[in-house]
Amino acid sequence: MARLKVGICGYGGLGRVHAGTLVGMDDADIVAVCDINPKKLLPVEIKFNIEQSGPVFDIRKCRTYTDFRKMLKKEKLDAVVTALPTNVHAKIAIMAMKEGISVFSEKPMALNVRECDKMIKARDDNNVQLQIGQCLRFWPDYEMLKKAITEKTYGDLKSLTMTRIGGYCTWGDPDWFNDGKLSGGAILDLHLHDVDWVQHALGLPKSLIAAGSRGQTGAIDDVTAVWQYDDFIVTIRGSWMYQTFSMSFQAFFENASMDYGMHPDTALRIKGKGDKDFTKIELPSKENGYCREIRYFLDCVSGKIKNTVCTAESTKESVGLVMLENKSISKQKWMKLGNFN
Ligand SMILES: NC(=O)c1ccc[n+]([C@@H]2O[C@H](COP(=O)([O-])OP(=O)(O)OC[C@H]3O[C@@H](n4cnc5c(N)ncnc54)[C@H](O)[C@@H]3O)[C@@H](O)[C@H]2O)c1
Repeated sequence: MARLKVGICGYGGLGRVHAGTLVGMDDADIVAVCDINPKKLLPVEIKFNIEQSGPVFDIRKCRTYTDFRKMLKKEKLDAVVTALPTNVHAKIAIMAMKEGISVFSEKPMALNVRECDKMIKARDDNNVQLQIGQCLRFWPDYEMLKKAITEKTYGDLKSLTMTRIGGYCTWGDPDWFNDGKLSGGAILDLHLHDVDWVQHALGLPKSLIAAGSRGQTGAIDDVTAVWQYDDFIVTIRGSWMYQTFSMSFQAFFENASMDYGMHPDTALRIKGKGDKDFTKIELPSKENGYCREIRYFLDCVSGKIKNTVCTAESTKESVGLVMLENKSISKQKWMKLGNFN
């Protein structure tokens, strides 16, 4: 099978992470990179929140563009990986899909459900793949938690707490993260990761309630949500008001406690009833979620597999759930789950 020709749009923080991942793939080549800021296309390093390990892409090895439309016209691409400010996710993804090109677009899918619907329509009209970068679905530690819940390895789940906290983003270019109208605030940009994972792993709750406070973005930048299921609750905490990034969870099972991110080495651990201490759990994969989600996307583009893990329909539901939490915060009420359209 011919190697896939991939273009990248948005060469800031995450664009570079995905470029590094693609370098390690044996069936794809980065043939072009686009960024509206020509400085981003220079072969220099930039500082942002994710530590990059593994290969780094040498941008001198591909063609570069400052105009996405031009890149689509000149290159014969099979797929585009986009890592852009959230307010342009839908526009750029739809532009590519209309040219018959499959799209991997960073999370959040879009600023609202209406834009998500337009993206899904463009995918269907043009018979291409659309996958959103909800990387937690591919994170090995979180996959192990999902397996333990589904298979009831430690008995029934009784309660789950998910936390994702960090400081305000300083690397956005221009400073779009700190404008709630462009990023949606921490509730949509950061907290969404756990919202997405919980609905992916556990399905939709019966109802939810959230409380939060507005921060410097003008949107909700600190949120605590409680989701009610039939037999357990999930508490999800997210904030941009902390000084250090940290992600963690604690799962309370009938016969054991599982935690991740609580110890300095962050490893996934389990402590069964009667155990003296927590022990580390061996993970099935050494690769992180960024790498595994791009591998999955490429396999969908080349037709090796059908996307069942990260469908656009389900990532749209996550945007809908965040919007419902926003409503709960302003109404100070429990919200019943309905249709997100
Ligand atoms: N999955 C994760 O863990 C994770 C982590 C960080 C960021 N993200 C997401 O990735 C996306 C990008 O974040 P980032 O940190 O890379 O931001 P960034 O500001 O570092 O990079 C965005 C880049 O897009 C460029 N750009 C803006 N508009 C453009 C356009 N119309 N055409 C071409 N280029 C354009 C900017 O010049 C900039 O270089 C966001 O949606 C963010 O939420 C995901």
